[in-house]
Amino acid sequence: MADQDKSKEELIEEVLELRRKVTALETSLDGVHNVNDDAQAYNALKMEAVGRLAGGIAHDFNNILTAVQGNAELLQMDCFGQSERDDMLSQILHSSKRASELTRQLLDFARKGAFQIIAVDTVKVLERTVALLSHSVDKRIDIKLDMQADPAFALADPAKIEHAMVNLGMNACDAMPHGGTLTFTTKNVVLDDNARCEHTAELADGSYIEITVCDTGRGMDSTTCSQIFEPFFTTKEVGEGSGMGLASVYGCVKSHYGSIQVDSSPGQGTTFKLLLHAAEAACDPGDKPGALKMSKETGHILVVDDEGIVREFVSTALQTLGYSVSLCADGHEAVEYFTGHHQDIDLVILDLVMPVLNGPDTFKQLKAIDPNVKVLLSSGFTQNQTSSDLIAEGALGLLNKPFKISELTQALGRHLAN
Ligand SMILES: Nc1ncnc2c1ncn2[C@@H]1O[C@H](COP(=O)(O)OP(=O)(O)OP(=O)(O)O)[C@@H](O)[C@H]1O
Ligand SMILES: [Mg+2]
Repeated sequence: MADQDKSKEELIEEVLELRRKVTALETSLDGVHNVNDDAQAYNALKMEAVGRLAGGIAHDFNNILTAVQGNAELLQMDCFGQSERDDMLSQILHSSKRASELTRQLLDFARKGAFQIIAVDTVKVLERTVALLSHSVDKRIDIKLDMQADPAFALADPAKIEHAMVNLGMNACDAMPHGGTLTFTTKNVVLDDNARCEHTAELADGSYIEITVCDTGRGMDSTTCSQIFEPFFTTKEVGEGSGMGLASVYGCVKSHYGSIQVDSSPGQGTTFKLLLHAAEAACDPGDKPGALKMSKETGHILVVDDEGIVREFVSTALQTLGYSVSLCADGHEAVEYFTGHHQDIDLVILDLVMPVLNGPDTFKQLKAIDPNVKVLLSSGFTQNQTSSDLIAEGALGLLNKPFKISELTQALGRHLAN
């Protein structure tokens, strides 16, 4: 129908319809614009978090290195008495311990920590947590246990879960500077499609142990709440908190395929709720392997590591213990040396992450030369798929860097004795 044939009403209706379409189009374009804005805001937040992570690591390690380097230089001056020298050495050891605690927390956050998942009695874990906290926090804080879960066994790494509970407990106590109540509660929860919320959307159906950590402290606003799991996020004064506590708790819970959620508002206290997979029955916590004897035996060890300082340390430690040592700075060098000397070598300590020829490929080539070669892996990452695969292919075990001399001797004693 031509326009001139249309009634006035029909033309008005067409114009209105066109207007509606234009409005709908504008709204959807607005939507597109908002999505872009959201993506940009998300990227900005992500970059801010990465910046905070890098800054936090640099800051903490620089402080630690200042203490290590400074005390080592003072020791080099050779003008102090024995007790002052002992103090300086203690400072170096203390700082190194802090550095390895920091890397452990970072690895927990990155979910690369070593795990030992067993059926754990959460009652025992929480009783130990409360015993520990009650010795160290303000006596005006009343710590309560409300154990409703029965059975109360969770599939977890007991040490990691206890560490997470202590972290949550310490934070709660810090938020109650004038006293208050801290309550740990456990419950049995069954998740199925009807019992889900946004925090449990990723969890598999099944039985869980819910652990709630609730305080009557100062609480948090929503901006703070949205940042608390980021590494190095802290509202505490410089030197009072590193901001790694909740980041490691978060990584730990996620490594257990569990969930963590927080509910808090200013002045209203805070509640953290964790869900962990339930287990049938507890393992005996006394099942730990006994302490290993130190070896008195000697032998010839080949140390393969691209880091000069690690080679130096391991070589000095091994020679002091009576072993003879050969050093190689990369996989190629090691394969070449091993080809000519494998009959004389009792054990190889092999770094996993090296340039040129990496640890796993070096391991395979050493095995090809001598199928009975004893190889102890070493790595700055705790046990992962690569090390597990190599152990399945015959490597003796993994030394986690930074390792102590006692850990080195125990491992050598165990493997050279056989
Ligand atoms: N229960 C709580 N009540 C109020 N604020 C809390 C609570 N738990 C955590 N927070 C806030 O979250 C921040 C981050 O906590 P997190 O444990 O990661 O680091 P931190 O306690 O500051 O330092 P640290 O590395 O020593 O644990 C805290 O600084 C605090 O502001
Ligand atoms: Mg903390």
